[in-house]
Amino acid sequence: MATVDEHDHPHEHDPAHEHGDHETDAAPNGPAFFDDQAATWDEDPAKVERAAVVADAIAAAVPLGPDTRLLEYGAGTGLVTQALRDHVGPVTLVDTSAGMRAVVQAKIDAGNLPDARVWALDLATEETPDEQFDLIVTVLALHHIADLAPVLAGFATLLAPGGHLCIVDLDQEDGTFHGDGFAGHHGFRRPELADHLASAGFDGTTFHDCHQMVRDSVPYSLFLAVAGTPVPA
Ligand SMILES: C[S@@+](CC[C@H](N)C(=O)[O-])C[C@H]1O[C@@H](n2cnc3c(N)ncnc32)[C@H](O)[C@@H]1O
Repeated sequence: MATVDEHDHPHEHDPAHEHGDHETDAAPNGPAFFDDQAATWDEDPAKVERAAVVADAIAAAVPLGPDTRLLEYGAGTGLVTQALRDHVGPVTLVDTSAGMRAVVQAKIDAGNLPDARVWALDLATEETPDEQFDLIVTVLALHHIADLAPVLAGFATLLAPGGHLCIVDLDQEDGTFHGDGFAGHHGFRRPELADHLASAGFDGTTFHDCHQMVRDSVPYSLFLAVAGTPVPA
């Protein structure tokens, strides 16, 4: 379990934050919020450590191999995909933030993410591409998406028979993680998320304790949920 304080908020480096001002120009669940953070995201050791822990948990929970087609949704700078890179086949990284995608593209161009491509795609509002993946991973992205139903339905469409969906996100918290003005989810109650997944066509969701983030000295627990879609008889 990590004890390093994370810095997902630009204002955590801002003197205004020290005076208790949690307001920021960019809404804390919009692309501009993440555009602001993209260039320095990987400088936070807690995020790099989190990605490694998450990748290890996924590798322990689902089968991986050189033929595993990975989609990471809400990939940010691609830290989790980088940590899984040697264990899977071709990788596709999706994010709605142009700043995050630019960082991923720079890693691809530098040869740090072989056999990778990056997509601008929002499954909450856009059509699901006609592609198939064996593993869909999403880490700390779903709590930013108010309307989960189209996104989970998109995952069900994109997942190849026998494939796995791995969701890492916050357990239900008291709203302090993002503070005022956050329009997403204050984490998730595990049974409710399992119900949402069942409605989208996933079955057999299992939950694992995955990690602990610390923000402003407050611990927040993360789960790993693993689900699949029924394999046709
Ligand atoms: C907290 S960051 C996590 C980034 C990365 N998964 C990690 O663990 O370092 C959430 C990411 O989800 C992306 N995101 C938010 N809403 C999204 C949406 N509707 N579709 C795709 N990505 C989204 C953000 O741009 C951001 O990069």
